[in-house]
Amino acid sequence: MAIQVVILAAGQGKRMYSALPKVLHLLAGKPMLEHVISTAIAVSPKVTPIVIYGHEGEKLRAQFAHLSVRWVEQREQLGTGHALLQALPLIHDDDHVLVLYGDVPLIAADTLQKLIAAAPQNGLAMLTAHLDKPTGYGRIKRDQAGRIIAIVEEKDATETERAIREINPGIYLVPAMHLKKWLPRLKNHNEQKEYYLTDIIAMAVAEKLTVEAVQPAMVEEIAGVNDKLALVHLERFHQRQLAENLLRQGVMVLDPNRLDIRGEVKIGREVIIDVNVIFEGRVVIGDGCVIGPNNIIRDTTLGAKVIVKTNSVIEEAEIAAGCVIGPFARIRPGSVLGTEVHIGNFVEVKNSKIDHGSKANHLSYLGDSEVGKRVNIGAGTITCNYDGANKHKTIIGDDVHIGSGSELVAPVTIGEGATIAAGSTITQDAPAHQLILTQQLQQRGIKDWQRPVKKAK
Ligand code: UD1
Ligand code: CA
Repeated sequence: MAIQVVILAAGQGKRMYSALPKVLHLLAGKPMLEHVISTAIAVSPKVTPIVIYGHEGEKLRAQFAHLSVRWVEQREQLGTGHALLQALPLIHDDDHVLVLYGDVPLIAADTLQKLIAAAPQNGLAMLTAHLDKPTGYGRIKRDQAGRIIAIVEEKDATETERAIREINPGIYLVPAMHLKKWLPRLKNHNEQKEYYLTDIIAMAVAEKLTVEAVQPAMVEEIAGVNDKLALVHLERFHQRQLAENLLRQGVMVLDPNRLDIRGEVKIGREVIIDVNVIFEGRVVIGDGCVIGPNNIIRDTTLGAKVIVKTNSVIEEAEIAAGCVIGPFARIRPGSVLGTEVHIGNFVEVKNSKIDHGSKANHLSYLGDSEVGKRVNIGAGTITCNYDGANKHKTIIGDDVHIGSGSELVAPVTIGEGATIAAGSTITQDAPAHQLILTQQLQQRGIKDWQRPVKKAK
C-alpha cells in the first residue's frame, strides 16, 4: 500500500507571538515541521510528502530547500477538512493518505507503523488517546459495542460528550478514494463555521466501513504546539528522552535533565558527560572522552580520550585523540588539532592547524596559523593575523618555543626549533634553531619613584 503523507501546516500560530511561522520554531535545534517531514519520509520513503501551508510560503520553502517536499497552498484557513481537500488533486486514487500536523512534532514513526499495520482492508485507521484532561480536543464517540461512530469537536459537544476522555489526536490513515468522495461533501454547519476533517468518521460509519483505533506509545507524541509554553514542554520531554537513550547505550550522562542535543550526536564507549552540556549540529565523540560541565560543542569531531574541561566553546573543529581543552577555551571554525594538543584557559584558536603534542595553555590567540609538533606557546602569545584589511598566516615549525607575551605579526614563519624570547614582537621570519630577541629597551630602575596618589575631593 502506497502511503501519501499530507502534513497540515497552514495555521498561523498567533499564540506564538512571533513573526516566524509557527512550524519554523525550533525543537531540538530543528524546525518543528522538519521533525514531521523526517518522520513522514521514514514511514513512507518512496512517496514525497505534501505540506499544506497558508502563510509565509516563501520562508517555508526556503527553509526546506534541502528536502523533497510538495507544497500546496491553502489560501484561506477554512478548517482541517478544507486544508486536506487542497492536496487531493496531487494524490493517486489508490494511495492511502496519512494525515500529520506541522505543529505536532514528536509523532513517532513506530506509532505510525502500528497505525498502518492496523488499517482495515476497506476502512480507515486513526489514533486515539485517553487523557485525564481532554480539554480542547475532539472527543471519540463509540456505540454500545465499542465501535467508533463519530468525532465531536469540543465546541460542538454536549455536556455528556465533553465528559468523554478518549480524544482525537487528528492523525488518520484513509484511502484516497474515500477522501475524494467525502471531502467535497463536508459542510461547515458547526460552531466554528469550519470544514471539519473529523466529520469523515461519521461518513465512513454511514457507509459501514470499519474505523480502527491505535494508541500512541506516549501522549507527548500527539501533543500540539500552540504557544511557547507547549513548545518548551515538548523540548524538555524530547531532550530527556534523548539523554535516557544515551544512558541506555552506556554513555554516562551525569544528569539527563541537563544535557541538550540540538542535532545529531554519535558517542563512543566509556564517555562521561557532565552537566549543562549543549551539542549542536553534527557532533562525534570518541571512546573515553570526558566532557566537563558547561560546554558547548557544535559540528565537531573529538577523537578518543579527549578531555574538554569546563566552560569551553568548540565550533567546527576536528580534535584528535588525547587532546585536553579548557577550562575556558574557545575553539573556532576551521581548527584542526593533532593528537595530545593542549589548549588551556582563555586561549582562542581559529582556523588553525596545531600538530601533535603542542601546547598553548594560557591567554593566547592563534588565528590562521600552522603550528608544528611539540611547540610550546607561552602565555599571552598573539598571532597578529589581521592588518586591518586582510588576514595573514603564521607558520610555526616543530619544537619551537614561543616566550610569553610575544606578538607574531603575520605573515611570518618561525623556523623549527627556534626560541622566541618573552615579550618579542616578531615582524620577520625567524630562522630555525636560533634564539630571537627583539626587545629594544634595556631594563632600568628609577630610584625614589612615587606612585601617583588620588587627589582629595
Ligand atoms: C483538530 C481536530 C480535533 C483534534 C485536534 C487535535 C478538526 C476539526 N478537529 O482541532 O478533533 O482533537 O485537532 O489537535 O480537525 N490547519 C490547517 N488549515 C486549516 C485549519 C487547520 O492547515 O484551515 C492545521 C493547523 O495548522 C493545525 C491543525 O491543522 O496544525 C489543527 O488545526 P486546529 O485549528 O488547531 O484544529 P483543532 O481545533 O485543534
Ligand atoms: Ca489545535
